[in-house]
Amino acid sequence: MRLTCVSVSLRLGLASLLMIGATAMSRAQDDIGSRVNVLLSKMTLEEKVGQLNMVSNGATLRWEDIASGRVGALLNFNNAQDIARAQAAVRQSHLKIPILFGLDVLHGFRTQFPIPLGEAAAFNPTLSRLASEWAAREASYVGVQWTFAPMADLSRDSRWGRIVEGFGEDPYLGSVLTAARVEGFTKGGLATATKHFAGYGAPQGGRDYDTTYIPPAEMYDTYLPPFRAAVEAGSASFMAAFNALNGVPSTANPWLQTDVLRRQWGFDGFVTSDWAGIHELIGHGVAANGAEAARKAILAGVDMDMMGELYVRYLPEEVRAGRISEGVIDEAARRVLRTKMRLGLFDRPDADPGHVDAIFPSTEARQAARKVARETFVLLQNRNNVLPIVPSARSIAVVGPLADAPQDQFGPHGARGHAGDTVSVLQGIRQRAERSKIQVNYAPACDLFCKSTDQLPAALEAAKASDLTVAVFGEPVDLSGEAASRAHLTLNGKQAEVLEALAATGKPIALIIVGGRPLELGKLADRIPSIMMAWYPGTEGGTALADVLFGDVSPSGKLPLSWPRTVGQLPLYYNRLPTGRPTLENNRFTLKYVDEAITPLYPFGWGLSYTKYSYADPIIAKSRLKPGDTLEVSTMVTNTGSRAGQEAVQLYTRDPIASRSRPLRELKAFDKIALEPGETKRVVLRVPVESLGFHQDDGSYWVEAGTIEVFLGGSSLAEKVGEISILETFTLPLSGQRASSSTMAQ
Ligand code: BGC
Repeated sequence: MRLTCVSVSLRLGLASLLMIGATAMSRAQDDIGSRVNVLLSKMTLEEKVGQLNMVSNGATLRWEDIASGRVGALLNFNNAQDIARAQAAVRQSHLKIPILFGLDVLHGFRTQFPIPLGEAAAFNPTLSRLASEWAAREASYVGVQWTFAPMADLSRDSRWGRIVEGFGEDPYLGSVLTAARVEGFTKGGLATATKHFAGYGAPQGGRDYDTTYIPPAEMYDTYLPPFRAAVEAGSASFMAAFNALNGVPSTANPWLQTDVLRRQWGFDGFVTSDWAGIHELIGHGVAANGAEAARKAILAGVDMDMMGELYVRYLPEEVRAGRISEGVIDEAARRVLRTKMRLGLFDRPDADPGHVDAIFPSTEARQAARKVARETFVLLQNRNNVLPIVPSARSIAVVGPLADAPQDQFGPHGARGHAGDTVSVLQGIRQRAERSKIQVNYAPACDLFCKSTDQLPAALEAAKASDLTVAVFGEPVDLSGEAASRAHLTLNGKQAEVLEALAATGKPIALIIVGGRPLELGKLADRIPSIMMAWYPGTEGGTALADVLFGDVSPSGKLPLSWPRTVGQLPLYYNRLPTGRPTLENNRFTLKYVDEAITPLYPFGWGLSYTKYSYADPIIAKSRLKPGDTLEVSTMVTNTGSRAGQEAVQLYTRDPIASRSRPLRELKAFDKIALEPGETKRVVLRVPVESLGFHQDDGSYWVEAGTIEVFLGGSSLAEKVGEISILETFTLPLSGQRASSSTMAQ
């Protein structure tokens, strides 16, 4: 009885605290609202438009524009000296409105963490938060305030070079990780610009900047959820994408920038264009000149012009000529100023030029980078248990152009990463091998682009003289990232030839792939017993990889995308729709290629360990679910091997009969657990019944009555473990915030 009273009074106490918190918050918002209005009332039209202008550091920057209030944000200022100099220039302006300093800080500032696609392979939002927080801590130390990250673009096409900057092909994994990244950056002191809104990850043919066609319902179901998760996690701003979506460039797309983002999701921060994105409306063929481009972009809801200078050049005149009302400019300026106030820029001291990033990577930052990196490696295959390297090994050959490539280890957007800080793969292996008194024989085999095989004989010698070869090949950083679409996904240059020759030595060989996307392995998948994807692992990549190669830590990464056998299979993704002619081995007229298997080489969610896990019969807590209920699946997972490890337990569902075809499988929940040898843990995965539906083209969301199949396991090949029934069909309103109980006829 007493306990009940205590808990009631505690709850009352908590409720009143929350109310006080909410009231204080809304008072603070009101304060900001009125401060912004006072400020706006003092501003000329030119000064308001100045707040909407973002300019890059570099030759074209005019410092006098900063001092005359014509610049609201600056990008590519990456050190405290430059930032402090710009802040001093602001002090000469009429209203001294602080400038917002933005930079591409994606996966580290000075200390480089694994690239986002690799980080996604960790299936561990806690680590995503940690990596982003560190990136933000270091960048904000030198005065950077805003990052053009996270990239929330889902992609199912590895030809697209920017797939490296995201989380892969799955909307649920993408939503969880995008939210974690927004939270991490924000906690570390950087406001986020979640990008690129929207559909940029699905360009035709995988060609960066090319057009995208995605039907609205598919946008809502697949491409928009990670962005929505960013709004809910508190992203301060968004960046419009370069691409046209269904024929309307995102930068001039009111459906995206206003209807969805603001009206449906309630976002009240600001939207910036991408680099010269407003000017590119002319190239897209929707604006005849700069003035029209500026008008279309601002009317669509793009508040800030990154590196176009079209807003400052044309908007004042557009207002005076009556083509745009001044209210539109006021609203855009209000969003920018409100964000600056929320970030506390008006009350912050200027950057301290004494704050230099050379104090990083600190020991703590290095430890964090190592901790994150070692969970990102995906052991794709490991025949004959070639890995881990056994303590009895006397010598190993380290071969390949990416074994000692510290700069390429960063991947695209290396911010202030220094090659000199990096522990290369070779260094990491050497340090660890020394501890076990194992000799290391190093031979690069060829240059980064592997144009010639001149150095192959030395590499073959090294392999023959060693017990095991660790071959480090893959994609030099120039082949990955923005403007690095690839029509061929083969290992570049003569890498495959070199690897064939190494395999032909008959020595055990482990291939470590460094790169930003899956590569076509062809026959190498048969010829080489052990293959591990290491992505671009960052500053501590070498130490982290050595931890895993030598078995100090078991690999636990899982693929955040389907690994194609060949480029011709793209786009390829596990959560595809069923067809009327599912693949049948003996029937030509079913879903297949005549010259290639239909399946990926390695499926989504796939990744081996040095140990094995068994799943006890899963229990579904309740099999008949009403609106508001939760699908709850529990199981006991046991580490049945002799090494400690971590397993990402994954839950998938399928709606086999619905009013529209639904995916064969959809990831709905996952949890990563650590298990000692012989240890068992209970894992409980929960999915609200509200997450088991799908959108219509108008954005409404339906959960239909009927059966849902449930799958549980360590990859997207997970076994079916049961079924549940949803008892009634219901919809969620456009904003998706509350469940409506209205029952709809099926
Ligand atoms: C990229 C953005 C990036 C911006 C600023 C553009 O080319 O598309 O992702 O944030 O440049 O560097």
